[in-house]
This record gives sequence, structure tokens and C-alpha cells, in this order.
Amino acid sequence: MTLAIDGGAPVRTDPFPARLQIDDREIEAVMELLQQCKEGGGAFDRYGGTHVDAYEREFAAHVGTKFATACSAGTAAVHTALGALRLDIGCEVISSPITDPGAVAPILWNNCIPIFADADPDTMNMDPASVAERVSDKTRAIIAGHIAGQPCDMDPIMEIAEEHDLRVIEDCSQAHDAEYKGRKVGSIGHLAAFSLMSGKHSTAGGQGGMVVTNDEELYWNAKRFADRGKPFNAEGRRNLFLGNNYRMTELEAVIGRVQLQKLPEIVAKRRRAVARLEEGIRDLRRVRLGKVIEGAKSAYWFVLLKLDLEGLKVPKAQFAAAVAAEGVPCTASYDHIVYEQDWIRDRQTYGQSRCPWVCPFYGKEVNYEGSCPNARLAIDTHMLTSVHECYTDREADDIAAALGKVEAAYLK
Ligand SMILES: Cc1ncc(COP(=O)(O)O)c(C=O)c1O
Repeated sequence: MTLAIDGGAPVRTDPFPARLQIDDREIEAVMELLQQCKEGGGAFDRYGGTHVDAYEREFAAHVGTKFATACSAGTAAVHTALGALRLDIGCEVISSPITDPGAVAPILWNNCIPIFADADPDTMNMDPASVAERVSDKTRAIIAGHIAGQPCDMDPIMEIAEEHDLRVIEDCSQAHDAEYKGRKVGSIGHLAAFSLMSGKHSTAGGQGGMVVTNDEELYWNAKRFADRGKPFNAEGRRNLFLGNNYRMTELEAVIGRVQLQKLPEIVAKRRRAVARLEEGIRDLRRVRLGKVIEGAKSAYWFVLLKLDLEGLKVPKAQFAAAVAAEGVPCTASYDHIVYEQDWIRDRQTYGQSRCPWVCPFYGKEVNYEGSCPNARLAIDTHMLTSVHECYTDREADDIAAALGKVEAAYLK
């Protein structure tokens, strides 16, 4: 069969379904809030309103933690979780190597130094063995990003933290409702951050974030940090410490509350589509689904596909282009090693100061280049396809058919 990239008929000609996140339930919830504002005023008020508080309670219960603090973005949530720890300047925070810059920028805003643990080459997530190696006398925290929807191997990470008295922040931005050994991600670390922007499994109306924890002291600190240091649960009326205004609005929270109710179904549908895809590519020789670690259930933010490049006649980019030409979603790489980005490479933080890396409170030199070879290997051996809750069996079958067709053409 001639590949579509060579002029043949593609596997799929009609477009893949759009992701329809919003239905009448969100519209009604928003309209009701606006109606309240119109009639009585005040309903937008974060302090007088009820929706942000309710969303926090519902979110915490959903994840399985005692407390939650709603924020304006996932980046704000990571910053708030770090802010709650009240770290000294010049501490090291161990980060996932492959993640969003929004998970790393807050470390630098806190005047701490990100240290990147290497990745598991089969999953892209931080490798606990590398985390252990990178702990120093300056390390105070670990931010474990559950990338692509798949949980990090949390048990060994928590053991390392316990041994060295470190705090662990799970970054669940890409992994709402993913599970690790029967627990939802976000309930395992000392704190967890979620992004609720529109591309994520559930959204608080386009942007938003949430910090969850079981630790009451960390909860109050998170709440204070996200609201300019306000003295919540404290004596006196004066603000307590440096914070930001990262508050969520009532308008965002009404949408988020409806979305949270939909989350189990969203994740179940993604899992069903990926299971079907896995079945459809079972007999392929050079392509398989990215590994999901023992005891974990991915929430599939996107789908990693591992290629055995030695057995293929073409490089990964060409393989991915050929799959995409068949009319199904396929991208060559999730190429997001944060320290390779210009802003970190060129130390573009506070003007030209190169702070906090050159901060006298830190007093060490860091060289990130080449420090995570397995992260690079993971990127170079995986390509991606997409999945969302509007995919049906047909989408899964078409992706499988396209992968099979392209593999057959390029097998060595
Ligand atoms: C792992 C991870 N952390 C943090 C963020 C930042 O979230 P936001 O875009 O809501 O600020 C993202 C965004 O994609 C992310 O994927």
C-alpha cells in the first residue's frame, strides 16, 4: 500500500473530533452566577462568594487530601506550593528534566536553584535513582512532574525525601486522576499542584490551578502565599510574609466545579481509547505504547509511542511525518528538557544579573548541559499521538491502522 506521504490514499480523510469540553452544565452555572451578580451584586467577590471555597473542598475530597487552595494558574499553583514551604534563598529544588517551564520558573522566583534529575528513558518521568544522586546538603524539596498523564514512581521518591528531610511537591498538571498503587496522584507528596488551564483534563474556565495537601500548616501557608501573605488563621490583621495575588475568581470556580464532576468520565474515556489503540498495535514489531510503570494508571494527557528505531529504515521524524500524512495525529517529539531552553541556558532571569545562580547565598556553580542523557534518550525514542474524551473506537482504530501501514512500509 502506498503511503499517503508518497501520494497514496490516506487511512483517514475526515478530521478527528474536536475536544468539546463545555456543555449546558457549565453554561447554566455561569449564567446563574451572572444572574446573581445582576440581581444582588457581590457574587463575584472571592471573599463573600461560595464557589471558590466549595471548589476547594470538592477538589480536596476528589483527590483524597484534607485541604486545597485554588489559584489563578498551574504555574501559580507550583509557586504557591513552593511558597508554602518558606524556603531560604539559595536552596536547591530537584525538578523533573522534561516538564513545562511553569514548573521550574517558580523555583527561580523563590530564589532557589533548580537541579534536574535525569529521566527514566522509558517514561520521561524523573528517575528516583537520579534524584537520590542529585541530593546535596542544599536540597530542600523535590518537584515530581507526572508527565503525559503517567505517575512518577512515588514510593522511592518519598523514601529519598524522608531520608533527607525533603518536601515533595507532586506536579499533577498533566495527570488529573492518574493513580499510583491505588492512590490518586496529588495525595502522595507533602503538597501537590494542578494546572486547570483549558488544555488539561479539567479546566477552571481556561486558566486556573489548585494546591492540595494533608498538612494543615502547609495549607495555611499556601493560602496566605496565594493572597499576598494575608493572615489567614493567624492573630492580627497585618499580612505575614511576601506573597502574590494568585487567587481564583468565582467565575472560574463555577466552571471548575462542573468540570470536576466530569473528570472521572473524561479519564475513563481516554483510558478506553488508549486500551483500544494498544490492542490495535499489539502485533506491530517496532512501535508500542510508552511504558506505564508497575502499579500506575495513566490519565493520558497525550500518548507516548516508543519506536524501535534500529529496526526501521527511516529516522523518527520521517516516520512521524508519514503517520501524520495518513490523517491521524502524530508528532515526532515531546522535546521539553527545560535546561535546554534559552531562558535557562542564558540565565535570563532578573535583568542581566544571572541571579539566583550567582547568588552569594548559593555559592556553588551549576552546569546543566548534558546532565540528563536519559531524558534526551526518552525524547529521541518516543513520538506522540493524541487522545481525548471525544475519541471513539474509530479514532483508536485509525491511529492503529496508520501506525501499522507506516511500519510495514519502513520495516528493515
Ligand atoms: C507539568 C506542568 N506543570 C506546570 C504547568 C503550568 O501550568 P499553567 O499553564 O496552568 O500555568 C504545566 C502547563 O502545561 C505543566 O504541563
